[in-house]
Amino acid sequence: MICSLSFPAADMASKAPTAPPLKTFIFYILISFLTSFSVFAMLRYAANAKVDKICRKVEMPTMYYTGESDSKKTTRGTTSTTEGDLVILVWTWPYGQKFPLDQCASLYGISGCNFTVDRSWYSRADAVILHHRDVCHSKTQLPQEPRPYNQRWVWFNLESPRHSPNLHFMDNLINLTLNYRRDADIFSPYGFVKRANSPQDFRIPNKTKLVAWAVSNWDPSLVRVAYYNQLKKHLNIDMYGGRNRPLSPGNTISTISQYKFYLAFENSLNQDYISEKLWHNSLLSGTLPVVLGPPREDYELFLPSDAFIHVNDFPSAKELAAYLHFLDANDEHYRRYFEWRKRLQPIAYTYWTKHYCNACQALRQQPNYKTIPSLAKWYK
Ligand SMILES: *[C@@H]1O[C@H](CO)[C@@H](O)[C@H](O)[C@H]1NC(C)=O
Ligand SMILES: *[C@@H]1O[C@H](CO)[C@@H](O)[C@H](O)[C@H]1NC(C)=O
Ligand SMILES: *[C@@H]1O[C@H](CO)[C@@H](O)[C@H](O)[C@H]1NC(C)=O
Repeated sequence: MICSLSFPAADMASKAPTAPPLKTFIFYILISFLTSFSVFAMLRYAANAKVDKICRKVEMPTMYYTGESDSKKTTRGTTSTTEGDLVILVWTWPYGQKFPLDQCASLYGISGCNFTVDRSWYSRADAVILHHRDVCHSKTQLPQEPRPYNQRWVWFNLESPRHSPNLHFMDNLINLTLNYRRDADIFSPYGFVKRANSPQDFRIPNKTKLVAWAVSNWDPSLVRVAYYNQLKKHLNIDMYGGRNRPLSPGNTISTISQYKFYLAFENSLNQDYISEKLWHNSLLSGTLPVVLGPPREDYELFLPSDAFIHVNDFPSAKELAAYLHFLDANDEHYRRYFEWRKRLQPIAYTYWTKHYCNACQALRQQPNYKTIPSLAKWYK
């Protein structure tokens, strides 16, 4: 299914010149100039990045803690502001998986879009949603007819950059990105935590087992496999998925909920890439997630700091294992990791609907002109 990845030819071989003294001197001057220039550029970049980070931190909690209930409040029952529904062409079913296209209003209070998969509507569509992994095999999988005036193309992708090949196919074609990253045009994460209106009566499921890990893609080159190999020396880990014990969508939650810990190890370490392994597999099953992915600070923008254990909190897998054994023996300490669930409720978006509804809402709210010259520059 995954499209072929192409790697740039690595030709870094340099030939040592035998230069006379004057040339060496000029070369030296040039190098010093370049070095001081790049140091200056780096400092400037660092300063900008810091400002950027601070700004994002301010806006994140609003995005996060409002969630569904508030968007319902603002949109439900109100009549649409622009005349008529937007026609949104779903170019392919994502991974071929069909789902109802008319549930945005009933589930999320988002109205004003008429979704269709019928490509004969292309010339009348206000927007086209292109799911990356269904169109990245060949450029011919993209719409071939000229784009109607004002039609916007939305690039939809929930995979990590490592699993998103051929981004250059999209150069100078895309108007909006629909992605789990906070800085996407249409921010659509795998899940979020919602503030509860009253104290929640959350009960930790009864535990009879220690650590579970479900892994379907066993790629030894991944960081998570190297970490697992260290961790298993000090801890018994029950493996599910792939060639291990079977795990089906129907029994995932009930199986994992018997465990005290779940290894929510991502396949790549990228900004905001926090997948269903955390939102669905760990949190919905009432199990304490041990995460490997982006840094702790990134997770803390999405959920409370005491809702998970991060592998980076420990100098090595050995120390992490010792801590998990400690929590296993000290129920009082283990339970503290669930305190937040009195105040907040995790929501996992395991179905496609919400992401498409987010697109509808954004397309109605962002009528501005925008074009993205290179996705590859951003998505890494
Ligand atoms: C919505 O799109 C369908 C085609 O998928 C069309 O038959 C219908 O008339 C459209 N409805 C509105 C209100 O635009
Ligand atoms: C856990 O087990 C006890 C008895 O062993 C039972 O009373 C309780 O309802 C169980 N709790 C859950 C959440 O299943
Ligand atoms: C969308 O992007 C295309 C390709 O860059 C551009 O030609 C078009 O004007 C953009 N449309 C809108 C509405 O932003």
